[in-house]
Amino acid sequence: MKKDQNIRQSKTKINVKEFINDPFKGKTGFMPDEVPESISTRIGLNENLVFPKEIMDQLLLEVAKTIDPRVYPEDYSQSLCQLIAEQHDINPNQIVVGNGGDKIIDLVVRLTIKCGNSSVIIRPTYPMYEHATKVQGGTLTSLLLTPSPEFDLNPDYILSNITPGKDRLLFLCSPNNPTGNQFDRSKLETLIQEFPGIVALDETYAIFADYSMVASLDTYPNLIIMKSLSKFYGMAGMRVGYCLSSEIIASRMKELLPAFNVNIASQKLAQLVLHQTKVHQQMIDTIVQERERLYNEMQKISEITPYKSYTNFILFKTLKAPAQTINKKMIEKGVLLRNMSGMPHCDNTLRVTITTKENNDRFLKALKNVLEKEI
Ligand SMILES: Cc1ncc(COP(=O)(O)O)c(C=O)c1O
Repeated sequence: MKKDQNIRQSKTKINVKEFINDPFKGKTGFMPDEVPESISTRIGLNENLVFPKEIMDQLLLEVAKTIDPRVYPEDYSQSLCQLIAEQHDINPNQIVVGNGGDKIIDLVVRLTIKCGNSSVIIRPTYPMYEHATKVQGGTLTSLLLTPSPEFDLNPDYILSNITPGKDRLLFLCSPNNPTGNQFDRSKLETLIQEFPGIVALDETYAIFADYSMVASLDTYPNLIIMKSLSKFYGMAGMRVGYCLSSEIIASRMKELLPAFNVNIASQKLAQLVLHQTKVHQQMIDTIVQERERLYNEMQKISEITPYKSYTNFILFKTLKAPAQTINKKMIEKGVLLRNMSGMPHCDNTLRVTITTKENNDRFLKALKNVLEKEI
């Protein structure tokens, strides 16, 4: 493979680097963590392992029976939009479905940002907002949440640090990844109301929390709400996300989106999964109950500080040893967490996904073991 590339290079006078964009200026963009082979308890990516695999298998069989992969899917996932619209009680023309939540983030940036414009991000938060903005040739106005344990918005500070005209897009993630808190609703609404541009509110984890802003879409024509089916709905591997907004915004977004961008199996499976309302209620109950149990147990461990969560994960600070050291030892025990220490206000923090009781217990046991015997 390497040899072939060399041969190809030697036959052209073109310096390839002159013709390819370099949005990260020589540094690498977002790189997902590698999953070591020894991992038996994968609890770093907020996937929903509580969704019964047997039910998912049945639904996949039904998908296989009903789709014909030889033909294109619906161009803009109309049937899925219809179902999502019914579940949120809004018009299907207000919905755009894409290939995962990350594709929706990318689409929102492409809709709003041109070279010379900025996205406002309030750190620590989900890194793909920054990634998508840079890929589009935009810059960042990077501000901060209040420090731990609140991690909340400060609207006065945010509004006084933006440049109207240049800052065209504000990303807010509520509940926020990685901190796990849902922002104070009145502060969030102040920002949506006062920001002189588009506000993209990421509600990927709102189903685990206290409120959603979907019912307020008509009040705020500058609001886009983004959702993903990767987390609660157990479809991380199938890549489906969507957003809700005014019809004007949604129709402009579809103009930017390649038709047929969501494959036929994912469109169909998403519909079947969204119909499983009984399973949804059981899953919410289980995950929230387990989250509270785990949080209480983690509070009893003197070497860490867990932060209150309104999601399916918990961020915690390691007090007696660097998070990196603990993370490494956890990997040796087959438990994969996510190290968040590189983010502002997140020194020495790790993030654990709430999954099944067995996994949660395995995590607790491994963590206690590492802290008591190996640090
Ligand atoms: C806040 C947030 N938004 C969006 C996404 C993207 O989800 P998807 O897997 O659908 O691309 C994630 C995934 O981690 C996330 O945490």
